[in-house]
Amino acid sequence: MDLSEALRGTGSARRFTEQPVSDAMVTSILDDARFAPSGGNRQPWRVAVVKEPSIRRHIADLMTSVWQEYLGESADPSRTPFAFGKSFGAAPVAEPNWLLDEIETLPVVLSIAADLNKIALMDGDVGRTPITGGASIYPFCWSILLAARARDLGGVLTTYLSRAEQQAAPVLGLPHGHAIVATIFLGHPIHLNTKLKRAAVSDFATIDRFDGAPLR
Ligand SMILES: Cc1cc2nc3c(=O)[nH]c(=O)nc-3n(C[C@H](O)[C@H](O)[C@H](O)COP(=O)(O)O)c2cc1C
Repeated sequence: MDLSEALRGTGSARRFTEQPVSDAMVTSILDDARFAPSGGNRQPWRVAVVKEPSIRRHIADLMTSVWQEYLGESADPSRTPFAFGKSFGAAPVAEPNWLLDEIETLPVVLSIAADLNKIALMDGDVGRTPITGGASIYPFCWSILLAARARDLGGVLTTYLSRAEQQAAPVLGLPHGHAIVATIFLGHPIHLNTKLKRAAVSDFATIDRFDGAPLR
């Protein structure tokens, strides 16, 4: 499919048909995604294709706790989602989450990890939350979603499990020095949203400086 169309129209899919996705298909998706860029081309990614229902249930239970904590904090008007994890005050809120509730039946569950020894953290020392490390792994994650789209599949990237990484590590066999960066769910979407809502370029791009004139 046309690249621009794919970039503009790959919405998140959170419900899938029961149609299975073969290992060969997952392999071919990863075979495309591996061409993602990474710092120094060190390709820090590891992927666990999680099939075993008991492992899926274990990580879904961990993710459900985080999801409910997130909902609780989001429901509290005095907090913003951006402060999530910095406080533990809000009571959890239980709401259905089809991906987590039905995890045993989902076509594909991918746990994505990054080898931190392969990532140069350029902003590790600047006195704020580091962010550049993710730049060596999330393009790979996005390429998985685009590669899935190219095969008429859909999916969504989630980060719940990172919050429960210590509990998830033994059950997933996470290697030492690695971080869990995402859980990606894939399948044949029941509905794929291709009409995405995003801010206009002039809302975020400016000339010369971040307080400059809007780019038009
Ligand atoms: C870093 C990251 C974390 C995300 N975490 C979740 C998540 O935990 N649960 C979820 O359902 N979607 C998650 N998403 C998907 C976003 O909600 C989605 O990309 C956004 O709402 C835009 O939706 P759209 O692409 O369908 O327009 C995440 C996306 C990113 C990039």
